[in-house]
Amino acid sequence: MRELAGKTAFVTGGASGIGFALGRAFADAGMKVMLADIETDALAAAVKSLHNVGPDVRGIDCDVTDAASVERAAKTTFDAFGNVHVICNNAGVAAGGGIEDIALDSWRWVLDVNLMGVVHGIRAFLPHMRAHGEGGHIVNTASMAGMQSGLGFGPYTASKFAVVGMSEGLAPQLAPFGIGVSVLCPGFVRTRIGESGRNRPQEYGAAQTLDPEGPTAAMVAQIAELIQAGIDPSDVAARVLAAIRADDLYVFTHPDMRIDVEGRFCAIAAAFDKAAGGQPG
Ligand code: NAI
Repeated sequence: MRELAGKTAFVTGGASGIGFALGRAFADAGMKVMLADIETDALAAAVKSLHNVGPDVRGIDCDVTDAASVERAAKTTFDAFGNVHVICNNAGVAAGGGIEDIALDSWRWVLDVNLMGVVHGIRAFLPHMRAHGEGGHIVNTASMAGMQSGLGFGPYTASKFAVVGMSEGLAPQLAPFGIGVSVLCPGFVRTRIGESGRNRPQEYGAAQTLDPEGPTAAMVAQIAELIQAGIDPSDVAARVLAAIRADDLYVFTHPDMRIDVEGRFCAIAAAFDKAAGGQPG
């Protein structure tokens, strides 16, 4: 989709971090923008701060784990702006724990937001995008954790691998309709993802308290430092706008992490070589 001005974008997780930067960049590009988020105070502040940036920026309270909530947000967006052209399924949370002690509630929460949130966004907007026929673009936020499992075993990695696979499968199916698909895979970005627990609904139970001396606490502290030293969300947003215009499937922001992905591909290729050599194991 080369021309963005005058079009409409819908962004989940739009109150903070990467989603907010996307909203700002879309507004800057002359788009009408609907920011959707579960954190209502932050959402109101985000919308207010963008009032003078673009033609029209609004916010909608939305919980991406709830299909009906996303449907309602979609309807509000159609009523406010008419046709929607760009959707960013970006809301995400992180929760960890050691292999043995990740609570099932944490698995459910992370998969419901990071994976089912993307599914709900696609289901709510795709029929409309196909019907209006003006073309469009879907951006699904995954992570480098969807390309290589450097963060180890856990729901975050599982959810992000799923988003990458789903996006790869969706792209050729939607190309005939003039709808592009991008999967955003950043490395560390300076946002509030490390404080995801602020948006953990009660139904998923309380966040786990970590043993301050344990390995998980040390890993969480290390990741918090990496996030703090991460790139600015506006750099990520600039890459996403370029990817929408160029219809790129993969959107990477950290070229230095190529080596990690290559390591995975080499291991996979070596396993195929073994199979081709007829080796039993
Ligand atoms: P953030 O915490 O600053 O923003 C996430 C937004 O999602 C928040 O505004 C939050 O209120 C919203 N959200 C959480 N649960 C929600 C729900 N159930 N319904 C609707 N909105 C909800 O974090 P960040 O980093 O901007 O996260 C955006 C995306 O980027 C996530 O999918 C994350 O996994 C991904 N990502 C972040 C990286 C980083 O280093 N910050 C690296 C790679 C990917």
